[in-house]
Amino acid sequence: MSDQVFIFDTTLRDGEQSPGATMNIQEKLRIAKQLERMGVDVIEAGFPVSSEGDYESVRAIAKALENCIVAGLARTGREDIDRAWNAIRPAKYPRIHTFIATSDIHLKYKLKKTQEEVLRDIADAVAYAKKLTDDVEFSAEDATRTDLPFLCEVARTALKAGATTINIPDTVGYTAPTEYAHIMDTIRKEVKGIDKIVLSVHCHNDLGLATSNSVMAIQYGARQVECTINGIGERAGNTAMEEVVMAIRTRPDLFPYFTKIDTKMIYPTSRLVSQITGMKVQPNKAIVGANAFAHEAGIHQDGVLKEKLTYEIMTPESVGITKSSLVMGKHSGRHAFRDRVKALGFDLNTDQIQKAFDLFKGLADRKKTVFDEDIVAIIMHEVLRIPYRYRLNYLNVVSGTSAIPTAMVKMEIDGEQVRDVDFGDGPVDAAMKTIRKMTHSKSKLMKFAINAITGGTDAQGEVTVYVQEDGISVVGQGAHTDIIVASAKAYINALNKLEYQKTKQKGKTMKPNYTDESR
Ligand code: KIV
Ligand code: ZN
Repeated sequence: MSDQVFIFDTTLRDGEQSPGATMNIQEKLRIAKQLERMGVDVIEAGFPVSSEGDYESVRAIAKALENCIVAGLARTGREDIDRAWNAIRPAKYPRIHTFIATSDIHLKYKLKKTQEEVLRDIADAVAYAKKLTDDVEFSAEDATRTDLPFLCEVARTALKAGATTINIPDTVGYTAPTEYAHIMDTIRKEVKGIDKIVLSVHCHNDLGLATSNSVMAIQYGARQVECTINGIGERAGNTAMEEVVMAIRTRPDLFPYFTKIDTKMIYPTSRLVSQITGMKVQPNKAIVGANAFAHEAGIHQDGVLKEKLTYEIMTPESVGITKSSLVMGKHSGRHAFRDRVKALGFDLNTDQIQKAFDLFKGLADRKKTVFDEDIVAIIMHEVLRIPYRYRLNYLNVVSGTSAIPTAMVKMEIDGEQVRDVDFGDGPVDAAMKTIRKMTHSKSKLMKFAINAITGGTDAQGEVTVYVQEDGISVVGQGAHTDIIVASAKAYINALNKLEYQKTKQKGKTMKPNYTDESR
């Protein structure tokens, strides 16, 4: 059996199923390209039949990628499979990923089908997909709660029909590592020919066991791990890619396997996904959390200063947190800046680099040191923007212990200069109310969160807002050393995204004279 563990990234499909993590097509493309650069083997780009938007983004990713397999998810029905195939067929390496539930609970309550009917569906779907492409993956949804002899029969059926990868998901995050070991071991012993195809594992983290289950499955024969960046995904999320990859790399004695992931790209990719989805990484998150390499206790600091090995099982540099990358100042040159931007995973054209560099210089004047996070925020919030209808030109807020919070706003709306003033319950409220009035927005602000991007009182504040209108949800983000300005920018970013989605739904395009990152 091969020593390579294939990394199947489902950030754009299962990851996008995280509440509030919807991404637009440009954002998905950006993540897909970054995943390809970091060495992911398979990218599950979406579930094409689920919406027009999903179909379009899977197709765009299929066209854009050159080295990765691009998978499209489909239930076992032919309409699903055709839709998935049409979306992925421009890919150099397309894969149809078809699935059906196999546990008694799902058969009885959800599918209302017998085991025999499910076996027929599997045989039919895999054989049908196989006529379209050679690379067919089959997943037995809720496999870990499936009667084990029946699960073996399911695997035999998928194998016979031509599946090249068989995935055993812990859909509800219910299983424990020893149980996974037993399931994988049984399938390998009972299903003749299973060694000719790739066995895969896909774990959810409801009991916090997703990574443990995944690495246990590898030890029992799985050679594909399905995972997401930062562990985002349905409910408590999926197995975090960075955890599995670093476990394999850090413990070769236990896991004598390898992946093709460039581990130095883990941290920049984690930041990129967090920025795009608006989902913060918890500070104590393994590998990519802000505290993952911070030694707080005196006894630990003393040990690390004497010899890193005392308390450090892997270096921050190995996951892309390099010391030299942490700080840039106003004396940093364009060359160093461009190199850093590249290392952070952004592929910017000359105009975009120039814009980012000018903004970086402006920030460096206001702030002593500029961190990676600040650079990512500049690029995400200011350079890589969707076409806009609204742009903030000027914001002045009066607030304090004895003042009624008042905001004066000047904005560009459809190319026209507009100004207005309003009051609020606080300075942020005043700014948002004024913008809302000026844009006549009917959208609802669902969530508002402020985060300091780095430490210190001169840190940039990063604001994330979730806005909804007519069933469309968008995440808006803004960053600035002034949190009121960051809030206004985040709100305007969300309103622009809403406009963008609305015009796309109507099949129109935004006015051509507007900045469009995708051009
Ligand atoms: O969790 C799950 O079972 C899935 C399948 C579609 C693979 O996401
Ligand atoms: Zn899943």
